[in-house]
Amino acid sequence: MHTILVTGGAGYIGSHTCVELLEAGYDVVVVDNLCNSSEESLKRVEKITGKQVKFYKADIADKTEMKKIFEENDIFGVIHFAGLKAVGESVQKPLEYYQNNISGTLNMCEVMREQGVKNIIFSSSATVYGDPEMVPITEACPKGQCTNPYGWTKSMLEQMLTDIQKADEEWNVILLRYFNPIGAHKSGLMGEDPNGIPNNLMPYVMKVAIGELPHVNVFGDDYPTPDGTGVRDYIHVVDLAVGHVKAIQKIEENPGVKVYNLGTGNGYSVLDIIKNVSKAVGKEIPYVIAERRAGDIAECYADAALAKEELGWEAENGIKEMCEDSWNWQKNNPKGYR
Ligand code: NAD
Ligand code: UFG
Repeated sequence: MHTILVTGGAGYIGSHTCVELLEAGYDVVVVDNLCNSSEESLKRVEKITGKQVKFYKADIADKTEMKKIFEENDIFGVIHFAGLKAVGESVQKPLEYYQNNISGTLNMCEVMREQGVKNIIFSSSATVYGDPEMVPITEACPKGQCTNPYGWTKSMLEQMLTDIQKADEEWNVILLRYFNPIGAHKSGLMGEDPNGIPNNLMPYVMKVAIGELPHVNVFGDDYPTPDGTGVRDYIHVVDLAVGHVKAIQKIEENPGVKVYNLGTGNGYSVLDIIKNVSKAVGKEIPYVIAERRAGDIAECYADAALAKEELGWEAENGIKEMCEDSWNWQKNNPKGYR
């Protein structure tokens, strides 16, 4: 079975993907600089699977280190999660975001080319669609104006990777546009562990659920949606992880450039999430209606048909499982991996 290099493999989505790759029989090498994660997540991966992960603590922009990784391992392809991802922070620190996400990826691709490894699966985002003209969003919908530097790094990297493949057909590039990953591994051993006060809805709701924060701020209740709050396509992180295994299987067919939405096709509102978490926790999650958050859109959910047709992949977990699994992780690990 092939060996897969997982960049950012100690992070939230990366660690869950390591589990699914190992369980599907792949060997896994991880490179991560741990700027937003800890090595403990990889210990949990090993505990769950009973298999080993070869870990390099390094920055993807470090060509010497990356070269060493490719020389020491027979890598078939790269699943590229490594990147900075906080929307608000990217507005404050655009230079750091462009440097880390764009230069990091370009440096890594140069090493990949030198080493003759030309298969890459890239973590993109529904954010590249901007404010969509219609929902559900298909891959044929045009990319839009991003509202922050983070989003632009995704949009630009999609273009760069596409151009690299166009110039050299030995490359295979799969761009996966994730919708909103939430949930955690069923074991309760792995989940999302953000630093500081969370920006995203589910980790924030979890902090309220364990009593670290007093209430959820619902950013706007006057959107043109059924209950007035923002609607998103929440997807269970384990379903998302399985999507990457399917993408590796696809890349084995030398498909050139492919783009897939990874979502469930269902939209849920902020209040739907609060309601379902309240059920999972067994007590009401307090919330207050607050101002709209700058840059937010009303509604965003996927048309997930293409991934089903071409990857044979479909999300299996619903909103109930997502909320239960997030809570199971949070209550068993109130301090995350610390
Ligand atoms: P995460 O922060 O948990 O994981 C990213 C990992 O990359 C971290 O472990 C971090 O330490 C590492 N990293 C960052 N820069 C690095 C560098 N230069 N060299 C080596 N390692 C580096 O985030 P996540 O939620 O698991 O997201 C994974 C990927 O998916 C990211 O590219 C993110 O932008 C993308 N994505 C995430 C979401 C989401 O809502 N979580 C949505 C769409 C896309
Ligand atoms: N929300 C609140 N209160 C909060 C946090 C969020 O009401 O404390 C609302 C938002 O207004 C939005 C919804 O909950 O309506 C989801 O917000 P998130 O911040 O969890 O997620 P976003 O859809 O804004 O963005 C996420 C990632 C982006 C990614 C995008 C699309 O943060 O990186 O999904 O994949 F690009």
